[in-house]
Amino acid sequence: MNPVLEVAGLEKRYGAITVVDRVDFTLARGQCLGLIGPNGAGKSTLFNLLDGSVAPNAGTVRLDGQDVTRVAQYRRARLGLGRASQIPRPFHALSVFDNVLVGVMHGSRQAGTARDRTLEILEMVGLAERPGRIAGSLTLLDRKRLELAKAVSVGSKVLLLDEIAGGLTEREVELLVELVRRLKPALGIIWVEHIAHALMAVADHIMVLHFGARVALGPPREVMASSLVQQIYLGKSIDDLATT
Ligand SMILES: Nc1ncnc2c1ncn2[C@@H]1O[C@H](COP(=O)(O)OP(=O)(O)OP(=O)(O)O)[C@@H](O)[C@H]1O
Ligand SMILES: [Mg+2]
Repeated sequence: MNPVLEVAGLEKRYGAITVVDRVDFTLARGQCLGLIGPNGAGKSTLFNLLDGSVAPNAGTVRLDGQDVTRVAQYRRARLGLGRASQIPRPFHALSVFDNVLVGVMHGSRQAGTARDRTLEILEMVGLAERPGRIAGSLTLLDRKRLELAKAVSVGSKVLLLDEIAGGLTEREVELLVELVRRLKPALGIIWVEHIAHALMAVADHIMVLHFGARVALGPPREVMASSLVQQIYLGKSIDDLATT
């Protein structure tokens, strides 16, 4: 099967500093790529290059076979590049249902099937029980569920998750991991998270960025156990990384 995302030689410089350094990787539908690296390694910048909010100095991004390197962010979103951020931003005054419906309609569905699709998505993220709840009144975990539902609602093929587990309890992180696992079959997912065991539980591969360069990519256990990764994290979150 063709990869849903193909990244080749992607590079971003700010002045003399190379923040993303000729990064290559591919992502297949149904796969989750965990992305780790120390603070400032270039993870969020890589996401910005992928979703089109920042233009690269070199390299290409192909989404579902189409070169989108020069495609504007809003059009890239329409073509299927979705992103969920650490701080969920729902339409606070709208119901859970309407928040997702807006996205489904934006992905240009007919009104009739849009309601069915909305319910289907709410079911998938575990928010189907009270669709009438006002988004602004949701718990943090439910706001994260809604954030994911909204990202899926617009018809995303690739989902970029930037530290979405922030602020959650251990148990809630587990629930979030289950949710990402449920979303996975229909999408390609890239998940940046400092909580290594969450990534270990759901990622098919883990990629490590260090000073903008890809220094490791492979099966989670292999990558986490590598001496290179141990060195990079030495004295930082090594205990966290060792958790499986
Ligand atoms: N607009 C900008 N102008 C100049 N430098 C920038 C800009 N955006 C990011 N940087 C620099 O690029 C580097 C990578 O930042 P980035 O936010 O991508 O790292 P990160 O891996 O997401 O870090 P964190 O784990 O802290 O979220 C940092 O050194 C940062 O200061
Ligand atoms: Mg970041």
